[in-house]
Amino acid sequence: MIYLDQAASSFPKPNAVAEAVGKAINEYGANPGRSGHRLARQASETVDLARRELSDFVQGPPAERVLFFQNATQAINQAIFGLGLSEGDHVVATVYEHNAVRRPLEWLKAEKNIEVTYLRPDDKGNFSIGSLKEAVRPETRLVAVTHGSNVTGAVIPVNEWGRYLKDQELFFLVDASQTAGVLDIQMKDWHIDLLAFPGHKGLLGPQGTGVLMTGIGVRLQPILFGGTGSHSADPLQPDVWPEGFQSGTLNTPGIAGLLAGLQEVKRIGMAEIRQHEEKLTARLLAGLSDIPDVSVYYAGTPERLGVVSFSLRGTDVHEVAMILDEHYDIAVRAGFHCAPLAHRELKTEDSGLMRVSTGPYNTEEEIDTFLNALREIREGLAE
Ligand SMILES: Cc1ncc(COP(=O)(O)O)c(C=O)c1O
Repeated sequence: MIYLDQAASSFPKPNAVAEAVGKAINEYGANPGRSGHRLARQASETVDLARRELSDFVQGPPAERVLFFQNATQAINQAIFGLGLSEGDHVVATVYEHNAVRRPLEWLKAEKNIEVTYLRPDDKGNFSIGSLKEAVRPETRLVAVTHGSNVTGAVIPVNEWGRYLKDQELFFLVDASQTAGVLDIQMKDWHIDLLAFPGHKGLLGPQGTGVLMTGIGVRLQPILFGGTGSHSADPLQPDVWPEGFQSGTLNTPGIAGLLAGLQEVKRIGMAEIRQHEEKLTARLLAGLSDIPDVSVYYAGTPERLGVVSFSLRGTDVHEVAMILDEHYDIAVRAGFHCAPLAHRELKTEDSGLMRVSTGPYNTEEEIDTFLNALREIREGLAE
């Protein structure tokens, strides 16, 4: 199988990830932060090390402010609902937000009467600081933005946004689901208050992992209540990081695997990963531009990810994806990518698009095989 759906979840995972998961299950599968015995301590040490290494990787907060969740969606929910937004508050986001951001905001809009402004890109696909400045107003309490679009691959310059927003009385949340492990992220220098990302995409970790980093000074309320392994006699949720936000048993095997994935990213080197992605994306875009009837929904931004969405005139994207899967053993993603506003912006809300996304283990030969398959499918369907 040629797997070109890396934006959904990276595959295959490095061997070291599977080994780390297996080791956690087989050798120290106790409950971290619950008991004092050796195995529980070993589990806790792994989780703590993962917190520290992840934080170092993105210039994040002290380790206790690194929270683990099952995916980016839960991390984003904790960030948005944890801020306690209320009637009259205003939020700025973009039309490129994934439903992981958009749906919590829409819920707050409907239930709490908060207002949301979704910024649109300019003609070239850029989100200018000018439009951000225009959107921010005295009632704005949160700017929530995706670092990279999972539809067009556009990269939003969150570093510039952060520099502007640092003087505003609001919180800055960055959804780094498509960029963690691929692009450099400097939480402190970029004045990011809340950074959320999955462990199972660019960081090459297992599914069931997501992370929220919360800057010092950001007060959050938990969204999940229960056993934390500490302050057990207290009827109220303890106001302690990280336990107060981590009710229930953590996914220790997943976190061990995420740590191994991060270490693999560091071993390969992010610059190398990025260069490889750029090479594959350039080859893919060049090949697509040679196929008649293909329209690429371009990123337009100065920087773009290895995420390319396109249509093939006269065909149904779902049908083409199915043929690729069943006849060519190639996995891509057709549809709306949980980002309906992006599709509305691109005027593809009825048809959807086909998305190809690459990762560090994809090769140029795989891109060529995909392009040849697409050419054949086009000719076959045209007949
Ligand atoms: C930009 C963006 N945000 C959030 C998510 C949600 O990630 P998860 O599936 O880990 O919850 C995705 C997943 O595709 C994404 O691309």
